[in-house]
Amino acid sequence: MGVRVLLTEEQIQARIRELGAEIGADYPEGPLYLVCILKGACFFLADLARAVPRDVLIEFMGISSYGKGKSSSGEVRVTKDLDASLEDAHVIVVEDIVDSGITLHYLVHVLGQRRPRSLKVAALLDKPDRRLRPVEVAYTGFQIPDEFVVGYGLDYGERYRNLRDVCVLVDE
Ligand code: IMP
Ligand code: MG
Repeated sequence: MGVRVLLTEEQIQARIRELGAEIGADYPEGPLYLVCILKGACFFLADLARAVPRDVLIEFMGISSYGKGKSSSGEVRVTKDLDASLEDAHVIVVEDIVDSGITLHYLVHVLGQRRPRSLKVAALLDKPDRRLRPVEVAYTGFQIPDEFVVGYGLDYGERYRNLRDVCVLVDE
């Protein structure tokens, strides 16, 4: 399978600088956790955390919702939990992409039970046409059409994560 570039590394980095500034301006002092949803959001988390001009804490959460294919199983499971309690802290869930919304809908519910002071979502990509569950995304990088994308953390069968651009997977 081949790839066609949808968002270049430069476009992604420029947008992340804007999101970082926005987040920096939105939060008062006090602990701010960025919770990275593994594995897809790892590069976004790394770049976003460095674009926010204030102190942040980073945490990682593993979940499984997708099989090896291109569509959701509809079932979400926590495979690696956080190290920190989020109680009384400001929290931003950092996700690679919102597709059906099933994953984030579930995560917002699970993390909300831990009594954070506030809980918002940052997603690099959003495919609004595919939504099955409502999700409020406070910080969106890019809205994209309903096409399967890889790169910059996103995979197809665990491949392509290390591409620097976000690309559409194309049958050749
Ligand atoms: P949702 O639960 O359907 O919103 O799916 C969210 C998860 O599905 C993301 O964290 C991705 O891991 C995966 N996903 C959704 N769309 C794509 C895509 O176009 N490329 C790669 N992974 C995707
Ligand atoms: Mg994922």
